[in-house]
Amino acid sequence: MKKAVILGLVAMVLLVMISWMNAPPKPHPIKFPIPKGWPQPVYDFKSNPLTEESFELGKKLFYDGRLSKDNQISCGTCHQQFAAFTTFDHPLSHGFNNQQTTRNAPALQNLAWQRNFMADGGITHLDLQPLAPITAENEMAETLENIIAKIKKDKEYANMFQAAYGDATINTQRIGKALSQFMLLMISSSSKYDKVMQGFDSFSLPEKLGYGIFQQKCASCHPAPLFTDNQYRNAGLSQDEVLKDLGRMGITNNPADSLKFKVPSLRNIALTAPYGHDGRFFALSNLFEHYRKQMVLGPTTDTLFSNRLALSNFEIGQLKAFLTTLTDSVFISDPRFSEPRMAASTLNHGH
Ligand code: HEC
Ligand code: HEC
Repeated sequence: MKKAVILGLVAMVLLVMISWMNAPPKPHPIKFPIPKGWPQPVYDFKSNPLTEESFELGKKLFYDGRLSKDNQISCGTCHQQFAAFTTFDHPLSHGFNNQQTTRNAPALQNLAWQRNFMADGGITHLDLQPLAPITAENEMAETLENIIAKIKKDKEYANMFQAAYGDATINTQRIGKALSQFMLLMISSSSKYDKVMQGFDSFSLPEKLGYGIFQQKCASCHPAPLFTDNQYRNAGLSQDEVLKDLGRMGITNNPADSLKFKVPSLRNIALTAPYGHDGRFFALSNLFEHYRKQMVLGPTTDTLFSNRLALSNFEIGQLKAFLTTLTDSVFISDPRFSEPRMAASTLNHGH
């Protein structure tokens, strides 16, 4: 009798030790780096603690064509790193079946400081953002059930979900959170402008003059360090007759929000042409002509534009020089965010 009890105890201790030895290694936490002098991010990291393993999972998902119906279009197809994660040279992006999106793809950068997403702020949490392109007929045209079924067949995903979350369950919530982790770490804060502000570099004369003009005429809506005030404003773009985009009003139904769009960040602006929510301006010169001459002054046009924006050719030249200092070559070539080289079967053919 006594013997059996002792044997039982020994067996239990052994079992505990074995399971302890086999316990999966804990994910490696990442500390979110806040650039010097920047405000606190608004993303709630407590609900999605950053780890190396989730970041890597998010990166694999971001570049995986299997998130689309024809297995060809990944997030990275429309959000290209060399263009600060916009679609290079396209007013609108091409999605499933070569259909076009109805807005210009924005740069993906500094998303941890944004509360709302899309040009109309229609998405209020970054973790939910991927559902929009995944299910949109003109973007990735896929269902979450199909995606989960497809990626479940990939042993590498099972290992990565296991490493990130402690078990291999694949669900929508985990996909959203992992994609967020990848995108949250896309921080652009290493441009020449940043180096000048930190005292490591200096502006050329045109850049310096441009900076002065910028402070006077632009910074009220595009303030540093993010170069956006994250508000919705009407910058006098007439409504496109085909797209009929009402901007923020489409979300709030409030006529006072008609034709208001989120003020875009100007970081990496030299890389993200064309411009405007529907990409109607092919170059910065077109946008400046808009600001000084073509702006439509309607009932919701921003009061700061009551006289349009007076800009001389000289000022435009200096402004362009300054805006170029917001290009962050470290960010757009950072291998942490680059498309991984994959096996031929999973290659993303969308480019
Ligand atoms: C077919 C092209 C296309 C694909 C594929 C695509 N996007 Fe986008 N993305 C866009 C466009 C266009 C917008 C702007 C939409 C708007 O403002 O209404 C956008 C907006 C966003 C935004 C909001 C950024 C901001 O500043 O408001 C995020 C984040 C984003 N996409 C992430 C993703 C992720 C993650 C995926 C993959 C699951 C993805 N996108 C796939 C074209 C695409
Ligand atoms: C009253 C607020 C306001 C002021 C002042 C302002 N902007 Fe803007 N800017 C906006 C809004 C809103 C948009 C988005 C318009 C749209 O897409 O409909 C925008 C868009 C832009 C874009 C296009 C960005 C992109 O990614 O598509 C650039 C570039 C730009 N502004 C530069 C400037 C410069 C340079 C100045 C100063 C000469 C300036 N802005 C002054 C509100 C403002």
